[in-house]
Amino acid sequence: DWTMAAFRAEEVSRIRAQVGKARVICGLSGGVDSAVAAVLIHEAIGDQLTCVFVDHGLMRQGEADEVVGLFRGHFNIPLVHIDAADEFLSALAGLDDPEAKRKTIGRLFIDAFEAEARRIASDGRGPVEFLAQGTLYPDVIESVSFTGGPSVTIKSHHNVGGLPERMRMRLVEPLRELFKDEVRVLGRELGLPEAFVGRHPFPGPGLAIRCPGGVTREKMDILRQADAIYLDEIRKAGLYDRIWQAFAVLLPVRTVGVMGDGRTYDSVVALRAVTSVDGMTADFYPYDMAFLARTATRIVNEVKGVNRVVYDVTSKPPGTIEWE
Ligand code: XMP
Repeated sequence: DWTMAAFRAEEVSRIRAQVGKARVICGLSGGVDSAVAAVLIHEAIGDQLTCVFVDHGLMRQGEADEVVGLFRGHFNIPLVHIDAADEFLSALAGLDDPEAKRKTIGRLFIDAFEAEARRIASDGRGPVEFLAQGTLYPDVIESVSFTGGPSVTIKSHHNVGGLPERMRMRLVEPLRELFKDEVRVLGRELGLPEAFVGRHPFPGPGLAIRCPGGVTREKMDILRQADAIYLDEIRKAGLYDRIWQAFAVLLPVRTVGVMGDGRTYDSVVALRAVTSVDGMTADFYPYDMAFLARTATRIVNEVKGVNRVVYDVTSKPPGTIEWE
């Protein structure tokens, strides 16, 4: 019968058989999936693996430090930290179509991995032949079609099937058959700290898909602050583990408000929180009003440039979890 310990052992030998003596790079996103994939692959092939964390400037507050701390500190797995915020933000400038944003981010990730692969290979210990990703089963399904729809792409997940022809690396995707709850079990099995395993999912394209319309550094800063306050309130209320995913969205809309004696004309933040089993369907989380009021007050008072907060009460379907 099937156990996660058996899955772990099987995948370790499968990874060894697939990559042989070749070298692998693994992109870490800050999320649970890529971290679990990396630790599993490291168990299989040790220093044939190099982990790469591309900071695209679309991360949440403190995200980079947490990932670097976990890998270098806790696991002692070497990690290359690339600051690519300028490249990503300038490529995103002026783009407001959701798929154009996703494709641009996906392309820049590939560019960053390729550049890193060349740099790694320059040590003379051989080329990097594989790219590892934490792709899950629902990512595979949803990039192809949505329940019932034979050929509609809902969203291009940047980590699925997106390898351009010119890229000579093959894929290692050890989580391709797992659902999120199974990845968490595997993560615990591999010794990842509970606080990391229990993290809400975070999408590869990061905060860019939580900012409908154009992305700028200033907007990302506003979003990071609002998101940090929101998550802080969720933790304080003891709700973090009851929610599948919660985040702030910065809307491309300004509305009129009043602060003290003055008129304001600032942005709107939408809050989203859902419960789900696998991310394929989801229900909005029924907060009590006092929680929402407290959080909204803090965001408007503490985040410059925001004067209104709304709560998203759409489930999936018909909404998706992310706004883009
Ligand atoms: P949606 O918005 O499609 O999201 O309902 C379902 C789940 O997938 C996550 N998501 C992504 N994860 N790369 C990822 O690694 C992506 O491009 C991506 N797009 C959405 C989303 O956060 C939710 O958990």
